Amino acid sequence: MSLQTRKIALVGGGQIGTALALMITQKDHAEVVIVDLPEAVDPIKGKALDIMALRPHAGVDVEITATSDYSKIADAEVVIVTAGIPRKAGMSRNDLLEINLGVIESVAKEVATHAPNAFVVLSTNPVDTMCQAFQRHSGFPKNRVIGLSGALDSGRFRLFIAMETGFSAKDVSCMVMGGHGPSMIPLTRTATVGGIPIQTLLSDEKIEEIVERTRHAGTEIVQLMGQGSAYISPASAIMEMVEAYLYNKKRLIASSVRCDGEYGINDCFIGVPCVIGAGGVEKIVEMELTASEQSQLKTNYQSLLENIKQI
Ligand code: APR
Repeated sequence: MSLQTRKIALVGGGQIGTALALMITQKDHAEVVIVDLPEAVDPIKGKALDIMALRPHAGVDVEITATSDYSKIADAEVVIVTAGIPRKAGMSRNDLLEINLGVIESVAKEVATHAPNAFVVLSTNPVDTMCQAFQRHSGFPKNRVIGLSGALDSGRFRLFIAMETGFSAKDVSCMVMGGHGPSMIPLTRTATVGGIPIQTLLSDEKIEEIVERTRHAGTEIVQLMGQGSAYISPASAIMEMVEAYLYNKKRLIASSVRCDGEYGINDCFIGVPCVIGAGGVEKIVEMELTASEQSQLKTNYQSLLENIKQI
């Protein structure tokens, strides 16, 4: 029997799923149920046992179950969906569209049946379109469906600014908006270190290099790893979003959320700044954009509309 009173369900127990199970365990947040395909369950049980063996060292009591039976996710407060395939070297996130749309359709129906009140965070790529498909097939309200984009992309943007300036990443504040793909929009105009604009710390050329590295950081990792895609930073970024919900933190984190009029975008999930608290996606924050930022966002929106046609 679990000593935990809350439950987090992970749909997909691959690289990101097991990294999440580890992070949830280390913080003693909740009981974890991992749902995956029947043939994947035994290896995941092995990883779960390995993680649970942390209990005596970390002084935590987390129970992790691996199953292919969706009824076990009943009462989960949070469902994190990473099910699907990741990209390989040479693939874009959009190359995963067709296969992962099929996965998300089946997952959405199961989650709607077994955990209809959960807050759902998706990382399956291309994430903006997967959120759209999940919401459509589950019928969930838009405040309870959110995709990992800005938390991860802004995190990488912060890291690269920290690496170039030599200051702590903790003191870097910045945001990445738009679709979670190579045309994402790292906002250099508002980026600061400890409140100091980065333009006073770095040359224009260096800032442009950082922007490009941020846009392609996922690809850089895929190419270096040779197998699979990034999983530690996605899992950490998801944890920030989940903790914001569980502990009503009112975090302002750019994420893939459904816009209905905000930023001139309609009926489309795209990365925009939003407030995450106990109410899920509590608010989309509309900030003034420059003409260039607006036009980049419009281009992102138009390409997402093309993807949506395939749902
Ligand atoms: N139902 C449940 N689980 C599934 C299904 C399904 N229909 N289809 C695939 N899975 C499982 C796989 O068996 C695997 O365990 O999803 C898991 C995916 O894990 P990985 O292949 O290791 O992928 P990961 O690196 O975790 O990335 C997951 O997140 O960031 C995105 O692009 C990434 O789309 C990818 C997703």
